[in-house]
Formats: sequence, structure tokens, C-alpha cells
Amino acid sequence: MSSRRVVAIVPAAGSGERLGAGRPKALVPVAGEPMVVRAVDGLLSSGAVDDVVVVAPASHVDAMASVLPARARVVPGGADRVASVALGLAAVDDADVVLVHDAARCLCPGAVAQAVVAAVRDGHGAVIPALPIADTVRRVDPGGRVVGPVDRTGLLAVQTPQGFRPDVLRRAHEAALGSSAAARATDDAGLVEAVGGEVVTVPGDPRAFKITTPLDLAMAEALLGTTAPLAGAVGDP
Ligand code: CTP
Ligand code: MG
Repeated sequence: MSSRRVVAIVPAAGSGERLGAGRPKALVPVAGEPMVVRAVDGLLSSGAVDDVVVVAPASHVDAMASVLPARARVVPGGADRVASVALGLAAVDDADVVLVHDAARCLCPGAVAQAVVAAVRDGHGAVIPALPIADTVRRVDPGGRVVGPVDRTGLLAVQTPQGFRPDVLRRAHEAALGSSAAARATDDAGLVEAVGGEVVTVPGDPRAFKITTPLDLAMAEALLGTTAPLAGAVGDP
């Protein structure tokens, strides 16, 4: 009988340069709880995920393991996100669905993971949550001059958790090894597309936004009902 397990890989091995908190971003607290802890708790409490593999900076494997629930396995990550996910995937042995979910999207509601898992089980090899783009979009040249309009029709902003049949994700990552597609892809669905795989969307959620900058962190804390001082905010000395 084939497995009925959902394993989530949580890439958390980035340094968080744009946040600039002086430690790996996934360990930065959001209203008192490290992002990686919120992300893992969100997945496990969704009821859609059986096991979690967290990919930590090699220097912070023990630090992450010490704050995470025992059910989360922690493995060292790589130089970029693609490498980190590949290392997490190598630690997944038995699953019928694999999710990949950024630690930095730590306020994502469990319903998104549920919808993604359901769509993979419906027979889709690769599933991404996505939302319409609110802003007007322009393509520009390297000097910042507008070179043309972009029709927003049919454009969506992509989030995580992304869900995959394990064989689809493994094939995409194997093909990405040493290829330029890996350098360009900012998510796993991009690697599946690069090998000609079909990717379908389910509705995302605004709360699944990625915490990238100090403003994002302040917005996350505001959503949780706490206020945080915004380092570098206009008006700071
Ligand atoms: N990530 C990872 N391994 C890397 C780089 C990124 O696991 N070598 C993870 C991050 O920890 C994060 C997710 O991929 O959860 C999305 O990346 P991003 O938001 O860019 O995080 P950082 O790379 O940490 O941030 P920055 O780019 O500002 O340094
Ligand atoms: Mg990054």
C-alpha cells in the first residue's frame, strides 16, 4: 500500500540580510516566538501535515532543534534556497505529498496547507497558493526607464506552502543540479516548470506574506496584536 503521509520541508537556512536582525531570520521572534516555531506549529496544527523537516543554517542546527517540537527533524541547509530544499528533500523517505513552506511565511493559516494537500491528492503533481496582484506592474530597463506595460490579467503572486508528489519534486531538483534554472528559480514550482511539469494554483491568503524587511516584521506583529518598534523607520534619529 502506498504511503498516506504528508511531510513538510521548511527552508529556514537563510541569513535574513534584508531583515538585518543580526541573526538567522527564522530565529527572529515575532511577538515573542521565533518565526520557524510559528511556521512549524502552523503546519502541525493544520492537521494536514504529519511530519516536518526544518532546514537550518549549518551553524544553527542545534539552536533551531532546541526551540522546535520533537516531531520536527532539523537538518543543515545549503548556500541558496534551492540547495536547502534539496537537502531537506534528501531527508524525506516516505510520503505521498511533500510540502515546501518558507519559515518566513510564518503566519500562513492552516487552511492553505489543507487546500494544497487536497489538490495534490486530487491528482495534481505540483500545486501553489497564489493571489491576485494589487499593484500596477511595469517592466523597466536597467536604468529604471519604463519599457512597457504589463497586462495584470492572468498574473498572480505566488506563496508557500507549495505541494508536490514526491517524484515530481525529486525529478525537478535533480534536473536543477548544476543548471541555470536553479539559479533563476525562487521557488520549487519554478523548478517543476523548468522540466515541463504542470503546476496548478489554489487560492492563497494575504496572511501567508513573506517577512522580508523590518516593515514586514512590524506588520506581522501588528496582525498578532502587538506593536514592535520599526528599526530604521522614517523619523528615527
Ligand atoms: N532559505 C534557505 N536557505 C538559504 C536561503 C534561504 O533555507 N540558503 C530560506 C529562508 O530561511 C526563508 C526562505 O528560504 O525561510 C525564503 O528566503 P528569504 O525570504 O530570501 O530569506 P533569507 O534568504 O534568509 O533573507 P535575505 O534574502 O534577506 O538574506
Ligand atoms: Mg534570500
